[in-house]
Amino acid sequence: MSSALLLPAACSRPGDSSDAASDATYIHGVASGDPDSTSIVIWTRISNVAGRADIDWHVATDSSFQNVITRGKYSTDEDRDYTVKIVVNNLDPGQEYFYQFVVDGIPSPTGRTKTLPTGHVERLVLAVATCSNYAFGYFNAYEAIAKDASIDLVVHLGDYIYEHGRDAYAGETGRRIGRNHEPSHEALTLADYRQRFAQYKTDTGSKAMHARHPLVVIWDDHETANNPWMGGADNHQPDEGRWEDRRAASLQAFYEWLPIRDPREGENPAEYWRHYKFGDLASLITLEGRHTGRSKQVDIDDYLGDINSKADAETFISTVVGAPDRPLLSDEMEKFLADELAESVSASRRWRIIGNQSVMARRIAPKLDDPFFAELRAKLDDDAKNTLDDLTKYGNLDLPVDLDAWNGYPRARERFYQISQDAGARDLLVLAGDSHSFWQNALYDVAGKSMGVELGATGITSPRSLLELGQEGLKRFDELNAQRNKEVVWTEGRYRGFIRLEIAHDLVHADFVTVTDVESRDYDIRIVRSADIVKDGDTLGYV
Ligand SMILES: [Fe+2]
Repeated sequence: MSSALLLPAACSRPGDSSDAASDATYIHGVASGDPDSTSIVIWTRISNVAGRADIDWHVATDSSFQNVITRGKYSTDEDRDYTVKIVVNNLDPGQEYFYQFVVDGIPSPTGRTKTLPTGHVERLVLAVATCSNYAFGYFNAYEAIAKDASIDLVVHLGDYIYEHGRDAYAGETGRRIGRNHEPSHEALTLADYRQRFAQYKTDTGSKAMHARHPLVVIWDDHETANNPWMGGADNHQPDEGRWEDRRAASLQAFYEWLPIRDPREGENPAEYWRHYKFGDLASLITLEGRHTGRSKQVDIDDYLGDINSKADAETFISTVVGAPDRPLLSDEMEKFLADELAESVSASRRWRIIGNQSVMARRIAPKLDDPFFAELRAKLDDDAKNTLDDLTKYGNLDLPVDLDAWNGYPRARERFYQISQDAGARDLLVLAGDSHSFWQNALYDVAGKSMGVELGATGITSPRSLLELGQEGLKRFDELNAQRNKEVVWTEGRYRGFIRLEIAHDLVHADFVTVTDVESRDYDIRIVRSADIVKDGDTLGYV
């Protein structure tokens, strides 16, 4: 198809897509991301075309495109699912830009983006998001992020899509609110994953957020399948084809559908990690903890019958969970981490932020043998009673919980801490997704030395587990969890939302932001808690 040679006379505001032809051509909106100080990826996807599609793009310093500073052409086709991805180079640091695509004279909505700053940086605002399941609700929290003009960058910690079919996780909610997953079956093939990404990108909040802010995104498990490791996944069965093929298909769709730099020729697509530098203020180093080094998760149910005393539990922890040769990160990932942390320290950046998939803090199950839970148990159905009884047993035996997270890989966690210490970085500000709860944690190595703090983001829509305990039960469970665990300062699983992180030289201020509803488009935005983080010697602490 041909392409327009002239720029459209009038351009829309960021996120607007009021023109019918534009709506039909750019169903999935526009996005930008994976920035450095002089370049950024801009992205869109062309619908309703066949064969090859030629696209013009342009980038300006103003939203009315009076001052276009670079432009070019791009060609896409079905081999990349009509996605469009351009790395725009030769930009200025810390500068706001506006971008637009044109196909057959039809302009896309306008996107706004920003390069990373250099030199002295006073302030940086991040929105930390994770676990956005389309079938569980509207991405209202994305829309709330879009409306916050102070945000510099969105950091999505994974579970950007979920793989399940309609008969599984979130299916019931999806039917109730009319957000059924496409395809209807579990995503297994390249076509399936593409279709799933396409559906997620039709959400109003998603389109608004991506048009307004640049994105840093990592994958967690559900971009491929629940709880993966190097040789398979909890949600991958032998009749679903070769695991390697499924993983490759899922990662291909991830690269196609998100505004991130493609792997270079010969590079392993699974080796996806980055170091984003914000002048003298902060480093953000992202981890890959799913597909390059992870050993198989321990399923506690396989051992529970033999654990009847605290001594049994200790044996289980030291010989099974804490067994040698249970890595979580690959050697290459660890080397990157070591080098980049050392670079960050030697560059005297004020804060070292780790963009990480799952919760890192050391946790054992809370003690639930108190009168509140005895009363609650009497009101529960049999399934919920069994869940509560298992949890009570875990708590009484001091068993660790959440063994898919770092908590299930204690040796790998110590390696992570050792690498950080060796690099001169005990001041880690770890961000975590995956858990569908908010967390304010303090991190310590096995010797009790402070390693910094951890903030966990709740789901954009995904609900926490143990809903069968009811709202009051969940509240009490979270309170007891914090009481029991030195590293858990606060946790709260009843809310959906994101973390707004305002980073200045003297202080990091975190707001745990919630949207009051995800099952309708009517919602309010509330801050349920705030936390302030300061430097405390060579580590971090809360004030
Ligand atoms: Fe999740």
